[in-house]
Amino acid sequence: MRYFIFTDIHSNLQAFLALLRFAKRRKIDHYLFLGDIVGYGASPNEVIDHLRTLKPINMIRGNHDKAVCCDLESVQTFNPIAAAAIHWTREHLTKENLKYLNQLPKGPEIIHEHITICHGAPFDEDYYIFGEFDAAEAFLHIETQVTFFGHTHFPFIYTDNDHIVEGTFLTGNANEIKLGKDTRYLINPGSVGQPRDRNTRAACAIYDSEARKISLFRVEYDIEDTQKRILDAGLPAALAERLSIGI
Ligand SMILES: [Fe+2]
Repeated sequence: MRYFIFTDIHSNLQAFLALLRFAKRRKIDHYLFLGDIVGYGASPNEVIDHLRTLKPINMIRGNHDKAVCCDLESVQTFNPIAAAAIHWTREHLTKENLKYLNQLPKGPEIIHEHITICHGAPFDEDYYIFGEFDAAEAFLHIETQVTFFGHTHFPFIYTDNDHIVEGTFLTGNANEIKLGKDTRYLINPGSVGQPRDRNTRAACAIYDSEARKISLFRVEYDIEDTQKRILDAGLPAALAERLSIGI
């Protein structure tokens, strides 16, 4: 089975379409999305419309999806720029798409009995896994060998070898991990729509469960068009500027 794993689109239509074109050129059996469809970018309805066409897919909500559809109070915990984008998104989403966000399940979820997906951490969807200590805590809550998470927007892999947890930052445009028999893995593929590792390309991963191999990819997309959409929408200019630096 070949899984296509992606997360944190954040209403960036051009980045998402570039990744879909990338996926269509490969044999994909199942899509796994780890949350944050919306927030920051200017194309929430278009992104949801394309997401609806992907089958078969398992997905969970992210903190921005949750804030927009059903937890406006949580916006108080967002920085002012992110909060402005949450309010803008809520105003511009169609009723149908707002309903769609509302029905997204909360992670973690176990897929085909051997993969866990979560947005932040398996013990808290809003928690940021930002180091080995966090990862060690996460491993305590995981039953599968492979787990994918999002939320931080950094491509990262943590391994657990008999309770020795190590993290590796996976920037660059292609990385391949061959799964060991007794190692457990906690992997963030990086963000589709707002990468923060100073690599501006959209990020995704492919997990080939038969070959026992996980590959991380970065794909170029039309950043200028995305920036224009953000500025034309009246969203904060910083949300456009950061895309060309990858932060
Ligand atoms: Fe996010």
